Amino acid sequence: MARRLAAGARLVLASHNPGKLREIEALMAPHRVEVISAGALGLPEPEEPAPDFAGNARIKALAAAIASGLPALADDSGFCVSALGGAPGVVSARWAGPDKDFGLAMARVIREMGAAADRTAWFISALCLAWPDGHTETFEGRVDGVCVWPPRGTLGFGYDPMFLAAGETGTYGEIDPARKQATSHRARAFAQLIQACFG
Ligand code: IMP
Repeated sequence: MARRLAAGARLVLASHNPGKLREIEALMAPHRVEVISAGALGLPEPEEPAPDFAGNARIKALAAAIASGLPALADDSGFCVSALGGAPGVVSARWAGPDKDFGLAMARVIREMGAAADRTAWFISALCLAWPDGHTETFEGRVDGVCVWPPRGTLGFGYDPMFLAAGETGTYGEIDPARKQATSHRARAFAQLIQACFG
């Protein structure tokens, strides 16, 4: 049985990515926890040395929980392209370079895909809830779709404008953010976390 988070608890969000913070805060809003960002506490952004999403989420959540003395939630996520063997995957943020230019990152994806017939791709989100005593709970969500080019829409963040989720008529850069929030990889991981650790 998963460890639960007490109602009214203070929870650190161990992310420095404004797009992810926005989405996680919105997902957390209906639940009775007080959310504080790692940036507001002056916590550093840890390295992400693990070869998988769950391992990186665990490193980030544990670092924030131990540094703050509070439970902490971290997301490690990425964009995976079938024709690229799952790349950029865990290094999705790095493909955008030091200027975090996702126009460049998306152009690299399309360039490396070339004329590959398989245009399928997916997003993964691993969420880890960690406590200062070292206990962790980890959950993973995935959403499948296809790559489109050129990128479409200005909503969302990261690779959203080139991703058309299965069953949608617009990319994550075009559809209502509330719709993405309800069905995305992050929402799916989050639903598992809420069921296991809240209430
Ligand atoms: P990290 O989890 O901080 O390593 O960063 C993951 C990277 O994956 C982000 O910087 C985005 O580029 C990408 N990513 C993760 N989730 C999403 C999403 O929901 N939409 C678009 N890009 C995403």
